[in-house]
Amino acid sequence: MPAVLAAVALSAAAQDQPAGQKTLKGAYEDYFPIGVSVGPRNLSGDESELILRQFAGLTAENVMKMGPIHPEEDRFNWEPADRIADFARGHGLKLRGHTLCWHNQTPGWLFVDEKGEEVPKAVLLARLKAHINAVAGRYKGRVYAWDVVNEVIDDNPEKFYRESPWYRICGEEFIAKAFEYAHEADPDALLFYNDYNAVDPEKRDKIHEMLKKLLDAGVPVHGMGIQGHWSVFEPNDANLRAAIEKYASLGLQVQITELDISIYPAEDQRRDPVPGENQTFTQELEQKQMEQYDMIFRVFRDYRKVITGVTFWNISDRRSWLDNFPVRGRKNYPLLFDKDLQPKKAFWKVVNFNRP
Ligand code: GLA
Repeated sequence: MPAVLAAVALSAAAQDQPAGQKTLKGAYEDYFPIGVSVGPRNLSGDESELILRQFAGLTAENVMKMGPIHPEEDRFNWEPADRIADFARGHGLKLRGHTLCWHNQTPGWLFVDEKGEEVPKAVLLARLKAHINAVAGRYKGRVYAWDVVNEVIDDNPEKFYRESPWYRICGEEFIAKAFEYAHEADPDALLFYNDYNAVDPEKRDKIHEMLKKLLDAGVPVHGMGIQGHWSVFEPNDANLRAAIEKYASLGLQVQITELDISIYPAEDQRRDPVPGENQTFTQELEQKQMEQYDMIFRVFRDYRKVITGVTFWNISDRRSWLDNFPVRGRKNYPLLFDKDLQPKKAFWKVVNFNRP
């Protein structure tokens, strides 16, 4: 069957799925692949069954980050990342790589020499090149898109770039270099800049300015990763649309790379719980979460021409990075499946929509 007809037949099949059996990947197969972040421990048992039923792609939650995968200058820890890459290949799932250059979860050796003194720019850039060459080179042909540079823009409106060791030692040049090294290591991979609060108008405009500068200089950047660590209180529809449009206006594709909808207001500083503050997933919050998921997926569908992927950050409310963060001991319920891996109300809103 010609590809076009096959696509029509598939989409009819997706539409015909009985409401109670709809899946994320089935409902969205004509829109964009929906993926999920995982660790090796998620690749067996009931979680792996859920992954295979619901999701079209994977991102390594931690094991491809610089620290975990490159703990010593001359030693790589490939095994956990290989398990994810093998699982993806074995089951025909798309694989995103995350992340080649970040200021967090970096290995201890990276910024210092054997005496413990900070290395000069030339050494740090050479290390970055060697790292990217090894990691992007190993997963060449398997990782279709890399988050190359993560979170270099400051949240503070008074500042532009984040004051990280990367920036202190190299200035802004490391950003362009990371993309160039990644492109050399795997010329076919799609290369993303990835950040949080990327829908917030002030930070959005700074990210846009940086991306424009990179693109004007001919740096190989292909996409903007909007992380999507949101809450039932933000973002709003208008800011979400404006951000997608602004990034797409640069000719970039857009992916939502780390989606979860916290039931609590946004905060990012670790703290202890305040006595009496709500820690319950009330019916009202369940309703709000459903409405928020409904709104953002409606927007994503409207921008299907520029959105080329949506990835959830963690599988279910059984475990999320938002448990204990930022409030110690506080449980969160940010995903579409509950702790028993059953679809939540928000799930049904996301998969049951009217096609245009
Ligand atoms: C950022 C990173 C992710 C992850 C989350 C928290 O968004 O990009 O890799 O560490 O923080 O889990």
